[in-house]
Amino acid sequence: MFSRINSFEEYQIEYKKSIETPEAFWAEKAEAFTWKKKWDKVLEWNFDEPNVKWFSGGKLNITENCLDRHLATRANQTAIIWEPNNPNEAVRKLTYKELHAEVCKFANVLKNNGATKGDRICIYMPMVPELAIAVLACARIGAIHSVVFGGFSFKSLSDRIHDADCNIVITADGGFRGAKDIQLKAVVDEALQTCPSVKKVVVLNRTNTNVQMINGRDVWWHEEMAKLSSDKAFCEAEEMDAEDMLFILYTSGSTGKPKGVVHTTAGYMVYVDYTFRNVFQYDSSPLGGEADVYWCTADVGWITGHSYLVYGPLLAGATTLMFEGIPTYPDAGRFWQVIDKHQVNIFYTAPTAIRSLEAAGLEFVAPYKLDSLKILGSVGEPINEEAWMWYHKNIGKEKCPIVDTWWQTETGGIMISPLAGITKTKPSYATLPLPGIQPVLLDENGKELLGNNVEGRLCMKFPWPSIIRTTYKNHDRCKEAYFSTFKGYYFTGDGCKRDEEGYYKITGRVDDVIKVSGHLLGTAEIENAINQHPDLVESAVVGFPHDIKGWGIYAYVICRHERKDTENFKKEIMATVTKFMGAIAKPDKIQIVSGLPKTRSGKIMRRILRKVAEGDLNNLGDTSTLLDPAVVEEIKKGALTDPIVA
Ligand code: PRX
Repeated sequence: MFSRINSFEEYQIEYKKSIETPEAFWAEKAEAFTWKKKWDKVLEWNFDEPNVKWFSGGKLNITENCLDRHLATRANQTAIIWEPNNPNEAVRKLTYKELHAEVCKFANVLKNNGATKGDRICIYMPMVPELAIAVLACARIGAIHSVVFGGFSFKSLSDRIHDADCNIVITADGGFRGAKDIQLKAVVDEALQTCPSVKKVVVLNRTNTNVQMINGRDVWWHEEMAKLSSDKAFCEAEEMDAEDMLFILYTSGSTGKPKGVVHTTAGYMVYVDYTFRNVFQYDSSPLGGEADVYWCTADVGWITGHSYLVYGPLLAGATTLMFEGIPTYPDAGRFWQVIDKHQVNIFYTAPTAIRSLEAAGLEFVAPYKLDSLKILGSVGEPINEEAWMWYHKNIGKEKCPIVDTWWQTETGGIMISPLAGITKTKPSYATLPLPGIQPVLLDENGKELLGNNVEGRLCMKFPWPSIIRTTYKNHDRCKEAYFSTFKGYYFTGDGCKRDEEGYYKITGRVDDVIKVSGHLLGTAEIENAINQHPDLVESAVVGFPHDIKGWGIYAYVICRHERKDTENFKKEIMATVTKFMGAIAKPDKIQIVSGLPKTRSGKIMRRILRKVAEGDLNNLGDTSTLLDPAVVEEIKKGALTDPIVA
């Protein structure tokens, strides 16, 4: 009934309808899209296998809904505004018509280079418009994109290419991020030494870096595009089944190996469009008026970039801003300068960015008006009350609602969040579930905690359209990670509190992954990278509270033989992690130990390591069951003197 919810009462009506008649509810939302053939059945599901299908039998292509559908009403509206890393470089703007043409053309480039429906294509690119074009071109021809964040190392990249058996990689010579040039092609070359499945590499010239082009394998983006005359540039959108895979996106888990989260076409489309328009109250004024300028600062390498920089905004006919750089370049006022420059109305960023800009000081905010802003958003980790208030007061000038949006790579779209200006906000609370979302809190034994003022593990008891379908080529892993801990529920891995008013506050992860600057990193994955250092026998990684990053990485390492040059040694360990995983996984503290606290069965007691990392040395609980209790005393002592902050 409501394309956009306009009041708290409407929210309540929509929510009730979505719970009582979910199929009718979502069918009505789906009607608004372009289908090549309508669906036969709205929903089939069970959480045991798990098996979830939305809009079965439906045929469509998501890019027709992102692009072609808008051409009649908004061909000349800006679809993408691109702000370069260097503020002196020219801004680029693409209208819907231009974006459509570029996507079609590049889709044909992919076809000319052997891509067909169902292929997996890895995208490893900087934040330039061609990244969005590459993503959409894959979807146009029915190839499954797997975007890998440009900050990951060759090893993380090759693992992901391998796992998805990609036959094409789309990359750039390099990228600009702050004062740094990143070498992307060189990393791809190293990764591909162990990836025989890759037959073609399409390389965008972004930095004019000298790169090695392998004959027969590597082609230049611009040369391939130039081969297509404009009359041959249109590309018919491939007909996709509602449940055909749209993309794979890797996320860290409790084991060392990242999981290839799979999202499919129709459900993802319906859900990200609905949540984008409602959470951000996006006004796309289709009748020639000015569309709101919306800016999500996330990299397309993460789910936030997929759902709320590319797909959600384009589905809604929005103007989406894409920024190549970082918040602190050339100085800590960059975000605020860009907001004024492009008259941004809706701004969506991460708590870690807010905290670091808060720490930089108000003198970086003062020169800017920020008066175009209407709505602010936060995503990726809990936002502490202090950062929330700072954002509210100094950026939103106490007049912009803040939507604290809780969701996950696996959920595809926002699940618990205020609707901007429509439902109440509460500092540090994600607040209420969106229509269609049925959260429950369970105790350790899987019992539902009813009523308010309760705290437990956050689960979902009913599917929503963009729920994870599987983990690529390993359905058991999907079942094991999300649907087995509590039978009949999707388990998020997060702890959560429901307060006396029924508002939700996420308290953090309850498993072996850490949120570092909003990036989910598996402790086992970091340990694997650390252990590549030849002088190390073993390591254990835990998180500890960090003022800016939310959580920092604390590594306990055991050496093969004593190294007297401790500082050098630690630097080498950092370099090893950067090489094998990426700079985002570098430990903040490293403590050299002679042993780790283990149970008699050999399991590391991470609880103890976490306490020590947090500085809580007097509350370690019972250590008598350990194999070697003396090791704890040594670790405690070392914690006071040894670790350095990186
Ligand atoms: O722990 C929660 C935290 O981020 C996790 C999901 O991480 P990822 O898959 O990388 O997706 C991040 C972007 C959606 C969650 O399990 N998280 C995300 N948003 C919030 C949050 N924690 C608290 N508040 C949030 N708004």
